[in-house]
Amino acid sequence: MKTILVTGGSGFIGRNLCMRLASTVEERSGYQLIVLSRNPEKAVKVLPQSVQCISDLTQLNQPIDILINLAGEPIADRRWSEKRKATISQSRIQTTQALYEYFKQADKPPSIVISGSAIGYYGGGIANNQPVTEEGAVEPNFSSQLCAGWESAAQQFDQLGARVCLLRTGIVLGQQGALSKLLPAFKFGLGGPIASGQQWMPWVHIEDMVKIIIYAMQNDITGPINCTAPQPVTNREFAKTLGKVLKRPAIAPMPAAIVKLLFGQMGDELMIQGQSVIPQKLQQQGFQFNYSDLHSALEQLFKPKK
Ligand SMILES: NC(=O)c1ccc[n+]([C@@H]2O[C@H](COP(=O)([O-])OP(=O)(O)OC[C@H]3O[C@@H](n4cnc5c(N)ncnc54)[C@H](OP(=O)(O)O)[C@@H]3O)[C@@H](O)[C@H]2O)c1
Repeated sequence: MKTILVTGGSGFIGRNLCMRLASTVEERSGYQLIVLSRNPEKAVKVLPQSVQCISDLTQLNQPIDILINLAGEPIADRRWSEKRKATISQSRIQTTQALYEYFKQADKPPSIVISGSAIGYYGGGIANNQPVTEEGAVEPNFSSQLCAGWESAAQQFDQLGARVCLLRTGIVLGQQGALSKLLPAFKFGLGGPIASGQQWMPWVHIEDMVKIIIYAMQNDITGPINCTAPQPVTNREFAKTLGKVLKRPAIAPMPAAIVKLLFGQMGDELMIQGQSVIPQKLQQQGFQFNYSDLHSALEQLFKPKK
């Protein structure tokens, strides 16, 4: 039986991962799941029954084989003040550092560490059509500094003998997350391209995101992994496809000036900029995506459920 510790397990990705892993537990594949949460009473309500929730690492009473580190303050919730940026950074970098400090003292540290990051690692860019692989250059901004710091903190686990994977995740499409924020406008026919619409929006379906994490647990893959579907789209294409799937017009543009006015630096980095990130490492390893193109991913999410 392997024991997995998940931080951020109550969140959008973590919850879907735990549900998938818990169902494999029922299939007797041999994983025991522990979620580290700031609020375990709340976390248990959204997680499968077999998951144990703890609020502090000192509550661990067995060695951890696999650490999956997803915790972090939401990034796209509101404008970034200096205080907000510090909270966003600390909730990832300091939290990861604290995990490292704890496991440095452990008799048996985890042998696999899978830690969050984002395509924001590559920084800004508006109409750069060059595909960005895991070796892609960085155009520095707050997001890139945040991801670099988060990755460095996680990378230290290799000094403890762990295989470390860094999930450079694109926009995860599912019932929660970014899509749930976009939907109201699109449903009322008020959706459309943002700014020039030429910025790239690398995305990944939540099922594939979970599949990638489980793949990283079970296969010999290491270092940064671009967790994005093989066919990234521009923001204009994204709006058009979402409108088509929802059968709503998606032609109401949102000018860059309004985005900057409403959302400041957060809007600029997360909504107006974006690079054409591709999952080179996963593809080289033969990973099979369930959803490679946006239309099929959105159709799966919005098709009427029987
Ligand atoms: N979803 C995406 O599209 C996407 C894209 C790129 C990267 N990512 C990254 O992947 C990770 C997981 O994403 P997600 O969408 O599942 O995030 P999420 O739904 O916001 O969940 C993150 C979890 O982190 C914990 N958390 C929140 N604020 C925290 C804080 N201040 N300090 C410590 N822990 C805190 C919470 O767990 P508790 O309340 O139980 O402690 C929360 O459930 C995030 O770090 C995110 O930046 C996500």
